[in-house]
Amino acid sequence: MTEQSYDVAVIGGGPAGYPAAIRAAQNGLRVVCVDEWCNPDGSRAFGGTCLNAGCIPSKALLESSELYHRAASEFKFHGIGVGDLSVDIGKMQSRKEKIVKQLTRGIEALFKSNSVTGVRGHGRLLGGGRVEVTDPDGNVSELSAEHVVIATGSTPVELPVAPFDGEHIVDSWGALEFDSVPERLGVVGAGAVGLELGSVWQRLGAKVVVLEALEDFLCMADEQIAKDALRHFKRQGLDIRLGANVQSATVTDSAVEVKFRQGAEEQRLEVDKLIVCVGRRPFTAELLADGVGVELDDRGFVQVDEQCRTTAPGVWAVGDVVRGPMLAHKGTEEGIMAADLIAGKVAEVNYDAIPSVIYTAPEIAWVGKTEAELKSNGIDYKVGTFPFAANGRAKGMEQTAGLVKLLCAEEDDELLGVHIVGPVAGELIAEAVLAMEFCASGEDLQRTIHAHPTLTEAIHEASLAADNRAIHAINH
Ligand code: NAI
Repeated sequence: MTEQSYDVAVIGGGPAGYPAAIRAAQNGLRVVCVDEWCNPDGSRAFGGTCLNAGCIPSKALLESSELYHRAASEFKFHGIGVGDLSVDIGKMQSRKEKIVKQLTRGIEALFKSNSVTGVRGHGRLLGGGRVEVTDPDGNVSELSAEHVVIATGSTPVELPVAPFDGEHIVDSWGALEFDSVPERLGVVGAGAVGLELGSVWQRLGAKVVVLEALEDFLCMADEQIAKDALRHFKRQGLDIRLGANVQSATVTDSAVEVKFRQGAEEQRLEVDKLIVCVGRRPFTAELLADGVGVELDDRGFVQVDEQCRTTAPGVWAVGDVVRGPMLAHKGTEEGIMAADLIAGKVAEVNYDAIPSVIYTAPEIAWVGKTEAELKSNGIDYKVGTFPFAANGRAKGMEQTAGLVKLLCAEEDDELLGVHIVGPVAGELIAEAVLAMEFCASGEDLQRTIHAHPTLTEAIHEASLAADNRAIHAINH
């Protein structure tokens, strides 16, 4: 058995692991990144869930389905007739595959140019800086490193009452692979995955029913924003049932029979496909040999400190496999932080300024505290809101749904949270993240010149509204 030695071994090549590997190499360290990902076509690729089966392919399909939907329902407002619209799911899927391939190959190119060694296989931490690698053919080898970064990500939670069969009852990856539009689609869980994938297939013509166990819709978002979003989704035809507890899902010859309870009532739903997206759990299967000293918490997350050090010396963990939101960009920043700390540099992640985005139409995005969080923390605050219906650019785009809501401290005007439901909210939120990163006040935003006509003016106006000084709205 030959053993290679490195300064840093990264286990997992997703959006937390591959940037950690690249940054460590940029810091002059000898780096190996081990990943076992295998695509359905048998190809192996770095990039993890995000690039292969999550963020990137879902955004490709969201864009395609959004264009189709707008052509069908909005072009007429612009005076554009399109005749008979049709959709070719095969072509749509190949475009998606092409994007995934380009980006995953891009990582290999980045590894090459940064002299990161990419190894295909399953990594298992043996302790003492040794990592066992089992390649796709079952051959076992060992490598060693001064530092090991665990970046093994997460995997979909399976509901025992609705087990995945890969064909009728599928997880988020399966829901990106449909080769035709299901006539009737059931979605269990109204989180980010459920809403995004439900939207994709609904826009393409599926009749979609979303079953959500909680009584409140999108409870991680600000309540006012969530309520507004729910109104738009319902108007689009998404049938969202709150307080719906799935009891069973049974695959029959041609359909899935779902039984669920809403209040005291037992209900039944028949669908052609069922997407179960009720969260993800940290992925640590076959990762840690006995006695390596890396502790997991009671939910299976690798325990880390604020700077992603695990309980074992020289072992770090970043991304979905550790506490905090399961977001690619959070993992990326943690990976980069770990790589810089390993190289003896100063680094930190500002966990208070991590943006969240849900890529529906309208999009939902936020950063910082919600109104409910400020209330429960006893912080006095000011609120400014501004609707996209009063924004000239939004009107020109025929995208007037939604609003910007901004929360500032009553005491010193510090910007505490920005919440947006509206067109390209995921892009707009960047301004708020930057403002919060620099501890801006509401007044700083008010005094910042925003180009006209742009959607960003809605953020400007919301900051003015917090002091009852909005120009294009009635102040209270
Ligand atoms: P999630 O945790 O965001 O939402 C799951 C939903 O399922 C929750 O609302 C929960 O109340 C509901 N639920 C749980 N058990 C249920 C049951 N038995 N019956 C009905 N409803 C039930 O999880 P999701 O959407 O699967 O996403 C997984 C992770 O991936 C999340 O951490 C999410 O933030 C991340 N993600 C982020 C995206 C983004 O940033 N745009 C896109 C996709 C995923």
